[in-house]
Amino acid sequence: MKFFLDTAHIEEVKELIETGLVDGITTNPSLIAASGRDFKKVIAEMCELVAGPVSAEVAALDHPTMLKEGRHLAKIAPNVAVKVPLTLDGLKTCRVLSDEGIMVNVTLCFSAGQALLAAKAGATFISPFIGRLDDIGHDGMQLIEEICLIYNNYPDIETEILAASIRNPLHVIAAAQAGAHVATIPPKVVHQLLKHPLTDNGIATFVKDWEKTGQKIINKK
Ligand code: E4P
Repeated sequence: MKFFLDTAHIEEVKELIETGLVDGITTNPSLIAASGRDFKKVIAEMCELVAGPVSAEVAALDHPTMLKEGRHLAKIAPNVAVKVPLTLDGLKTCRVLSDEGIMVNVTLCFSAGQALLAAKAGATFISPFIGRLDDIGHDGMQLIEEICLIYNNYPDIETEILAASIRNPLHVIAAAQAGAHVATIPPKVVHQLLKHPLTDNGIATFVKDWEKTGQKIINKK
């Protein structure tokens, strides 16, 4: 499973990049607003930092303007994935950009039927939103499972399932169990995945016991 970071904060990417677990980045207008920074500068910096796809979302809602914006964003770097909403205009834009060899992330997917349409429109990624479905009392993970099942029935579908709106470690684990190709994870959740109290306790005990030995692995010359 590939891990993308769901953030518009460069520092959060820099902190995790050395682990080798950052396969890409996703941003959205809300994350850009929260960063308080210039959208295109953030995308350019992210594209320098990671080799994988960096999602940059169009702002327009009509196909002609979305297309113009998408082409403009794609010029920032070859690893930009243009993000379009799952609407008729979004799918038209997806088709054209995808035919032009530009990666497209179709976002705001809330049903398996929508995911099927995005795949047919040539999406590189489909982003089903787990957390937002859970928020309204639906089972977000069930949607991931349904899309995995459908896409697996048709080996010619190349669209990757990008589990989005991830709110906790269990979302990541369940999406991996279902077979999602990618999880886009807020940095806070990466740290939650990493931490375990038994790891911390174990380290504390080993440090104490090692001190008792009086040994050094590297002796000073
Ligand atoms: C990423 O592509 C999505 O925009 C993001 O995961 C949405 O997350 P949220 O529902 O927590 O805002």
